[in-house]
Amino acid sequence: MWKHSVENMESFWDSQAQMIPWMTPYKTVWEKPLADDFVGTWFDQGKLNAAHVCVDRWVQNHGDETALIWVSEEDTDSSPKTRVFSYRELSTYISQVANFLHACGVKKGTRVGIWLPMIPEVIVTQLACAKIGGVAVTVFSGFSATNAEQRFLNAGCEVIITADGGRRRGKEFLLRETLSKEFLENPSISKVITYNNISRSCKTTEKDLPWHENVSSMPTECPAEPMDSEDPLFLLYTSGTTGKPKGILHTTAGYLLYAMSTMKHVWGINGLLSPQLPHEREVWLNTADVGWITGHSYLTYAPFALGTTVVLYEGAPTYPAPDRIFQLIDRYKVTHFYTCPTLLRQLSSDTASYTKKYSFDSLKVLGTVGEPIDPTTWRWFFEHVGKSRCPIVDTYWQTETGGYLLSPFAGTTTLKPGSCGGPFLSIDPKIFREDGSEASPGEKGLLCISKPWPGIMRSIFQDHDRFTREYLKRFPGHYFTGDEAYKDVDGDIWIIGRADDVIKVSGHRFGTAELEATVNEFPDVVESAAIAIRDEIKGHAIIMFVVGKNSIQSNDIKDHMKKKLGSVAVPDRVYFVPDLPKTRSGKIVRRLLRNILLKEQISETSTLINPELVELLYQSVRDE
Ligand code: WT7
Repeated sequence: MWKHSVENMESFWDSQAQMIPWMTPYKTVWEKPLADDFVGTWFDQGKLNAAHVCVDRWVQNHGDETALIWVSEEDTDSSPKTRVFSYRELSTYISQVANFLHACGVKKGTRVGIWLPMIPEVIVTQLACAKIGGVAVTVFSGFSATNAEQRFLNAGCEVIITADGGRRRGKEFLLRETLSKEFLENPSISKVITYNNISRSCKTTEKDLPWHENVSSMPTECPAEPMDSEDPLFLLYTSGTTGKPKGILHTTAGYLLYAMSTMKHVWGINGLLSPQLPHEREVWLNTADVGWITGHSYLTYAPFALGTTVVLYEGAPTYPAPDRIFQLIDRYKVTHFYTCPTLLRQLSSDTASYTKKYSFDSLKVLGTVGEPIDPTTWRWFFEHVGKSRCPIVDTYWQTETGGYLLSPFAGTTTLKPGSCGGPFLSIDPKIFREDGSEASPGEKGLLCISKPWPGIMRSIFQDHDRFTREYLKRFPGHYFTGDEAYKDVDGDIWIIGRADDVIKVSGHRFGTAELEATVNEFPDVVESAAIAIRDEIKGHAIIMFVVGKNSIQSNDIKDHMKKKLGSVAVPDRVYFVPDLPKTRSGKIVRRLLRNILLKEQISETSTLINPELVELLYQSVRDE
């Protein structure tokens, strides 16, 4: 199938596209790109609506099937706190929110900022935007207001949807109230809609509107806007190698179809496309936050578009107890469980007490995403959660790719703990040396993809040049992932990690430049350098080297980073140093800082403008 799909890309995607109920059929599957581009045009002249594809189309024949089960952090076995929506109920709710957004001026192309915790309303709002052609710009609710505001303004959002706050780890956190006065007064923001989630009264301005009474008074039907295949569906900001986050643009047809097709084939899901007996219905549990791409593709869009039942958990997966997520698997008879290596490393540190209590009988397929999984954790997941019967799909992809590039196919391909397996259908991966020649099996190189696919990002919002420069020009005619990898003799791919200045902490992505820019804002900081070192639980931990003045303390830096970027970005250690090692052209030599920290041999100091610094750096590290 893979060979056929690569050699006949268009006919493969033509067959996949039958999963979508088109409003107007497309004329061509793929139109070749013009010079300098790679992507091309997918499903030209086709019209569809993502909210219709995901939810409305199931209402007529499967309206009573359960679409969404939401579980609060406060829920317990003896005192349940859940909300359950059938496909019909979800469709009605989406229509009401869409009508309200429409009344607030949202129409085709309007960007809508979404800053909501893990409650049903976040999915409902994303799909309500899609229903009337609005472009959703969702920001992780764990990010600070400064971060969210910067992204919303960059995206040109006109309407913001947020909540009074949310719950995580038994504590309440605030959202609406933390938005700055300057942001609220910005003329480009016209309305701020607040969902009352934790019954906290907020100060209001004339732009503020409460969600509840407005949404419930809206008509329960709303026509779905026919969208062109290539119309934007959402923008999602992610970190790159410069300090400025990039707004990754995904389109309606190509993205949606790619998310559906990858989920269907990799996990082996039938959903409502070929309905099963009720007891064979697929129940999907994904621990990712909707604020990340995993939450977009495999929570908001594909699981509904295929017609599964989605379990959404409000809180941290290890709260109120480390086995919280296991309890949900048994309670809701979850069949497909998707999570990240960080969580598994945390859970596997105490096997006996956690997994023995659960049967996990319902589970069929397990999956991981976000960073390489070490073979020990993989085996633990396989044996203790999958009870040695469930394949694990180690899915490799990126915000930019929309869906999986590499992954085993559950029940079909061989599993190798630590490898992401081979390419998805129609994906043609290559490992290149720096000079553009192809690496031999076993040889490390840079991972590229030689053919476009429907889910590839279309642009960086308002910076198309940066898109071509960073992804398409490095190896002309190929998409460059930025990751280092090697292919083994069977053609299976092993991801080593980022080849650029990107750090992954617990699966979250930060650019060193972004971390440094944040630290450098602090008044008593002259400059700083961020480096990553291995961490048993988080994969990588951030270490900051800071040139400071006055009596600045490491907690000042940590607090500032928490406030500006959120708690995942807090460095494990902060070293105050007299200066940073630099080349003659002023580039910070981060590699040398790593060497010093890890007490590794220092390779070369002759390119440094300040070689005498090395001894002082050693001393600073020792003193700490
Ligand atoms: C980067 C993309 C896409 C979902 C979540 C992260 C790393 C992702 C794997 C995996 C090894 C992985 C890569 C990639 N990555 N999945 N299965 N094995 N590494 O999305 O924040 O856009 O990060 O995550 O380094 O480039 P993202």
